Amino acid sequence: MHGRESAVSVLDANRRDGYTIPSATLYPFQWNWDSAFVAVGLAHADPAAAKREIRTLLDARWENGMVPQIAFWSDAAGYFPGPEEWRVGADRTAHADVETSGITQPPMVALAAEYVYEMTGDESFRDSVLPDLKAHCEWWLRERSDDGELVWVRHPWATGMDDSPAWVGPLERFDPGDVSYVRKDRKDDDLAEQRPTDWDYDRYVALVRQGRELDWDEARLRKESPFVVEDVLTNALFARACGSVAALSADAGDDAAAERWRAQAETTRRALSERRFDDDLGLFVSHDLVADEPLPVRSVAGLLPTLAGAPTDDQFERMRETLADFFAYEYAAPSYVGPEMDYDRYWRGPVWLNTNWLLERGLRRMGAEREADRIRADSRRLLDREGFREYFNPETGSGRGSDRFSWSAALSLTWAG
Ligand code: DGY
Repeated sequence: MHGRESAVSVLDANRRDGYTIPSATLYPFQWNWDSAFVAVGLAHADPAAAKREIRTLLDARWENGMVPQIAFWSDAAGYFPGPEEWRVGADRTAHADVETSGITQPPMVALAAEYVYEMTGDESFRDSVLPDLKAHCEWWLRERSDDGELVWVRHPWATGMDDSPAWVGPLERFDPGDVSYVRKDRKDDDLAEQRPTDWDYDRYVALVRQGRELDWDEARLRKESPFVVEDVLTNALFARACGSVAALSADAGDDAAAERWRAQAETTRRALSERRFDDDLGLFVSHDLVADEPLPVRSVAGLLPTLAGAPTDDQFERMRETLADFFAYEYAAPSYVGPEMDYDRYWRGPVWLNTNWLLERGLRRMGAEREADRIRADSRRLLDREGFREYFNPETGSGRGSDRFSWSAALSLTWAG
């Protein structure tokens, strides 16, 4: 059994000073969306730690409003690329002197902050995080949007779904050149089969080095980066983040801010529905801004605009047919379904519990209770079977990636009982 006590003990063991590392074996720093999922789970077990988790993450935000993908609060061995590779410097952050990576991650932090506030009702927490969440949403619009509707990212790591088959096209179009570096993520042969390939990694590293050379100047990177993508998951969470900022602002009595962010959530929601739905595939797809073409793959990301209520009724009818393909496995929902599917490799097929958590919420929002119940039941079966693994083979259920993985432990607390 992998009950509440063992989940809490994994989170306690992975806790550092005010934040939780995703995994002691693979990811020894603070990660952006990992911390957000951890806070959601901690809200059920240790609300003070949940609030600190979010506060510490926002303490790493840049002056310009970006919340970085990684905050290097303390030295740790065993991870590449560390601060010496990113070379961002500690002078970019608004609140703390901390080195960070030079990219962001999907803006799950706002939804997590709203969730923690709903669970605790702590107004001082609300008032402490709201200015940072607004600054973050402003940053997306100012630095990362061509049209004020949809937002873009410039690294596969920023999408959270590093080796999604959606990124193969854009990555194929550039030559990473002669990148030399030493990977630290493949501790044994099994992990080598479960992690992104060297082909992917060469391009990840080349993009980091380009960002560093252009001093993380967003305007230049928008023009020069070979990878500029309107990621469908990032946009779903951005719309949802604007909705969270609106709700928290309304709760704090700031009607003008509430109105503004409600309108932005609606603008992004509508743009997703009108421009990013692929009727043939029956889900939402990301868009490559360099080639100006859609990236038509069936990734679980394409089901997550449900979170923001993006699909019209007709679109959701079509999505139900697609859902059947994601449900055609022993354990739903695989991260990707299609010709590149690999049951064991990272975001190419395995089931991840964070996307299951988001998908369950999205489906409930659309009124698809039966489908949402299936996602919850399969998540619990995986946890019972294998414990707090990072991801799972959708056919056998076998745990993959690291063990004692923080967001798996944290989200299990939301499914307990
Ligand atoms: C990694 O290093 O594998 C992470 O996914 C980057 O965020």
